[in-house]
Amino acid sequence: MNDTQPLVRLVKLVANLGYGSQKDARYMIQDGRLTAPDGTPYDVDAKVRHDDVRLDGEPLDPAQGVVLMLNKPAGYTCSTKDPGRLIYQLLPDRFARRNPIIATVGRLDRDTTGLLLLTDDGAFLHKIISPRSNVPKIYEVTLARPLQGNEAEIFAAGSLILNSETEVLAPAVLDVLGPKHARVTVTEGRYHQVRRMFAAVGNHVETLHRPQVGGLTLGDLPSGQWRALNPAEIASLFV
Ligand code: URA
Repeated sequence: MNDTQPLVRLVKLVANLGYGSQKDARYMIQDGRLTAPDGTPYDVDAKVRHDDVRLDGEPLDPAQGVVLMLNKPAGYTCSTKDPGRLIYQLLPDRFARRNPIIATVGRLDRDTTGLLLLTDDGAFLHKIISPRSNVPKIYEVTLARPLQGNEAEIFAAGSLILNSETEVLAPAVLDVLGPKHARVTVTEGRYHQVRRMFAAVGNHVETLHRPQVGGLTLGDLPSGQWRALNPAEIASLFV
């Protein structure tokens, strides 16, 4: 038994994970679908720990306090109600009914690909987006025009001001990977930041991919797929 998880009413646990209403959860219990790991059916008023529940013999979705990583494909918007394809369509439908909700940690543009974090953990969200955390976000960029050679210096200076902004950008690191190909590491998350940084030096971003946030990389997670992070992976975001 997992003693570190709180004891909660089974019907509430199942409803908050988005499997249905509390009434639906009662039907699942009556039908013997919600059991202990050894298959013993639970009563309608059972209090349980998340890890001690099976639905149709399978573990439940990750408990509250989850951090997910999604390998975002191009063409999906980080929003709950834009016209067009939404990143939530890449997650199980019931995730949209969870309480608390699972929200994205910042956003990637519709045509940006790569590592997107999602969480229902307010404290984690606050910690990772706080400027004090200084979490590096790494982007791979392909450009419309060849690099001129002065971009690394301009980005590193900490004096660049983006169009229509008044505050200077924090220093960013540019590594040249090819004539029109670079890796950029930023610690902020301003609107369209990387695209606007290259616009500020007279270039245009054609493709933008984020392979890494902090010490966490996408690894072999295929495009369009997601998985929950384990505690060591969550900690690696901050190193
Ligand atoms: N910078 C951008 O311009 N777009 C993104 O999606 C992320 C960073």
